[in-house]
Amino acid sequence: MNILLATSNPHKLEEVQAILGSRGICVVGLTETERLLDEPVEDADSFSGNAKLKAVGYAEATGKRCMADDSGLVVDALGGAPGVYSARYAGVGDTREERDAANNKLLLESLAKTDTQESTARFVCSLCIADPDGTVVAESEGTFEGVITTTPRGVNGFGYDPLLFLPDVGMTSAELSTEDKNARSHRSVALRNILKQL
Ligand code: IMP
Repeated sequence: MNILLATSNPHKLEEVQAILGSRGICVVGLTETERLLDEPVEDADSFSGNAKLKAVGYAEATGKRCMADDSGLVVDALGGAPGVYSARYAGVGDTREERDAANNKLLLESLAKTDTQESTARFVCSLCIADPDGTVVAESEGTFEGVITTTPRGVNGFGYDPLLFLPDVGMTSAELSTEDKNARSHRSVALRNILKQL
């Protein structure tokens, strides 16, 4: 089975390819031409709403069955922020790395103002698969629980990985190997759930 993953985030594509590749499913990224298509505006107020509008938008535009992911970090002490605004939380930075660094800095500053030492938090991933006629074929969600550490650690992964501390292994998500992150991440839980529906 071939699935087009509608994302411009190379880290997400690598993670999904690693998880589904081991199950014999070929996941391809957007072609150069497809990358030039206007990205659907992610203006839904939920991860599932954004995943759906991306999957349907890209399926209609490319004429291919598409899977889209919307994901982010939900921090309890911040009332669920940054949530659906995770990618653009600080709103600055030209490169993905610059945006990630600015987002992480703002998150720690916001948390410091709440006087919380360690807040429970989770990554959430919503997935949606849609056909070119706009039909939603399958939807799923996965979470990855931890606490926010005030001392970022680790260089693996991307985004907020250095901030999500996993008490059971004494490491942040950015200190996990690719295999260990893929075995338990929000994305892998959501992928396993959506595969059952196909
Ligand atoms: P999206 O591309 O709109 O889904 O934005 C997802 C954002 O959530 C990313 O830019 C990251 O900041 C954050 N995020 C999602 N998944 C992960 C993850 O696995 N690790 C770290 N950050 C993540």
